[in-house]
Amino acid sequence: MLPKNFTFGIMQKNEAEILNEWAIKEGWNPGLSDQQVAKHYDPEAFIALRHHDEFIGGGSIISYDGLYGFMGLFIMRSDYRGQGLGAQLWQYRRDKLLSRLQANAVIGMDGVFNMAPFYARGGFVLSHRDLRYEGIAHGNKAVDVIPLAKINQAMLYAYDNKYFPVPRTEFIKSWINQCGVLGYAIINNNEMVGYGVARPCYQGYKIGPLFADSAEIADKILSSILSEIPSELVQIDIPEPNVNAIKLAQKYGLVETFGCARMYFGNNYSEPLRNIYSVTSYEFG
Ligand SMILES: CC(C)(COP(=O)(O)OP(=O)(O)OC[C@H]1O[C@@H](n2cnc3c(N)ncnc32)[C@H](O)[C@@H]1OP(=O)(O)O)[C@@H](O)C(=O)NCCC(=O)NCCS
Repeated sequence: MLPKNFTFGIMQKNEAEILNEWAIKEGWNPGLSDQQVAKHYDPEAFIALRHHDEFIGGGSIISYDGLYGFMGLFIMRSDYRGQGLGAQLWQYRRDKLLSRLQANAVIGMDGVFNMAPFYARGGFVLSHRDLRYEGIAHGNKAVDVIPLAKINQAMLYAYDNKYFPVPRTEFIKSWINQCGVLGYAIINNNEMVGYGVARPCYQGYKIGPLFADSAEIADKILSSILSEIPSELVQIDIPEPNVNAIKLAQKYGLVETFGCARMYFGNNYSEPLRNIYSVTSYEFG
């Protein structure tokens, strides 16, 4: 039970802007349009905790058509921390998301390492670590990459679904059409074999997703994207078990700077990690 004068609700636009500012302060470097894409896809994806009318904490609970959920952007205003309010907000968000998902749907999250025991007490099980590598972009454009805008979109969405737990056509459509996005795919024998996206962030660019059938294909796509943003800060969020992805990041001089615990609630979900060279985002899966 929340104390008197505290309430939960759907986050308003001005509150989402405050949450974004807090995320910047935490050093999470949000994408410039991440929130708009998520909110457009799932208008109930952002939850606010208010004291009287004041926004004091929030987080996202995106539902992918009720089939898969993801929790992110969990932040309390600093002067309200350590009083048990964050725990209540988190439990409310988890339960709200569960109520919006089909029975047996999985929820994923990327949590900071020191909070993993708290999330485990809330029913989440550690899957692996997702590690952030970053550095200054430099690369060469491969001859066989094709800009995403020139790719058959149905083929792209079908390929995305090979390496994401559920179809997310409308989400990925908005994601790759964000202002300032760069993306390439490779087609072999009329089949898509990889694609990658870079989006402008508060600082520089983040790569995500980068999905590929092999390390060689991932390399060509990454190098081509990096060649388009020379000298920019670039970040890539890699599932640690994908050793080829780590080697690739290192090849381009990127170094580990941050990481999260990827955890799942619900049924076992086994991801095709060796094909995931960067997750789409820590916030939305
Ligand atoms: C994480 C955060 C939202 C928690 O809010 P809060 O109001 O302080 O949370 P509570 O007082 O309800 O504590 C919730 C739990 O988190 C744990 N916790 C809070 N801060 C922690 C920290 N820095 N390290 C480890 N555990 C922590 C508490 O021990 C508590 O666990 P318990 O209930 O099992 O004892 C808040 O500290 C915050 O905004 N941090 C910065 C952003 C962040 O790291 N978010 C988490 C991203 S995964």
